[in-house]
Amino acid sequence: MKPHHFLRDDDLTPAEQAEILDLAAKLKADRHGYPALAGPKSVAVVFEKPSTRTRLSFDIGIAELGGHPVLLDAQSTQLGRGESIGDTAKVLSRYVSAIVIRTFGDDRIAELASHATVPVVNALTDGWHPCQLLADLQTVAEHRPLKGTHLAYVGDAAFNMGNSTVIACSLAGMHVRIGAPEGYQPAPDVLARAAEINAATGGSVLVTNDPVAAVTGAHVVSTDAWISMGMADSAQRFGDLGRYQLNAELLAHAADDAIVLHCLPAHRGEEITDEVMDGPQSRVFEQAENRLHAQKALLAWLLKEAA
Ligand code: CP
Ligand code: NVA
Repeated sequence: MKPHHFLRDDDLTPAEQAEILDLAAKLKADRHGYPALAGPKSVAVVFEKPSTRTRLSFDIGIAELGGHPVLLDAQSTQLGRGESIGDTAKVLSRYVSAIVIRTFGDDRIAELASHATVPVVNALTDGWHPCQLLADLQTVAEHRPLKGTHLAYVGDAAFNMGNSTVIACSLAGMHVRIGAPEGYQPAPDVLARAAEINAATGGSVLVTNDPVAAVTGAHVVSTDAWISMGMADSAQRFGDLGRYQLNAELLAHAADDAIVLHCLPAHRGEEITDEVMDGPQSRVFEQAENRLHAQKALLAWLLKEAA
């Protein structure tokens, strides 16, 4: 049987997403009460880009589930010397129960998944960051029920975080308002997929180049870096995105009790100000913690399915 991979947010149905978020809440309440990887089962976690939160949360999370994390940096393995991703997938599948990978192009993780006989989990690619969105949704659900919640996302919405926000929130039946200039908006195929999902879940996606229109009345306001890993520094991007900064003036248009999300790392003074990051509405560090609980739930769920 083909393993259940989690390469993008819609590799889970709305019901599966809800089941995993429910388990994440239980695992947050009882961190060591569910040793789903006891044995121990080993999980490989491969990095082809830098990471702090993803590295820590998978390493610690796999250990807390009773499993054995095997963290690999591409540069210190034969991947860094050009061994093919397909051969690497076949070898890893002989040793571990799941493969988690952070890499560049989505073609690379698709190639890995096509050769793997164990579940493959996307720990960030250029196109998607679905593990982050499970943590984001867990953080929102701690604030208010997901269905019907308005989430505004401002800034660069054409890369991994924008795409995953659109699709994961649609699966949860949320209303997403993207505030981004032309050239930084989600691609038509992502919006078309969201529309398909929203026809079933009752969610919606609106795209505008007006940041105030996106944020007005929102229950949640989220943003991400203007220069993502793998992008060259560019004065053009700073110029284009400057008026989408998440600052106190913009946040004042959201609901009074709105919460602020940022997947981190933040570039303080660029896409978000210190005042907002450190302000009373910020939930960014709860969000970072929830990576741990959400990914433990995901792995436990995937491996139960594979058993
Ligand atoms: N949010 C996130 O993925 O952080 P890291 O890059 O530190 O893993
Ligand atoms: N969009 C950012 C997210 C970092 C977690 C990047 O890809 O660098």
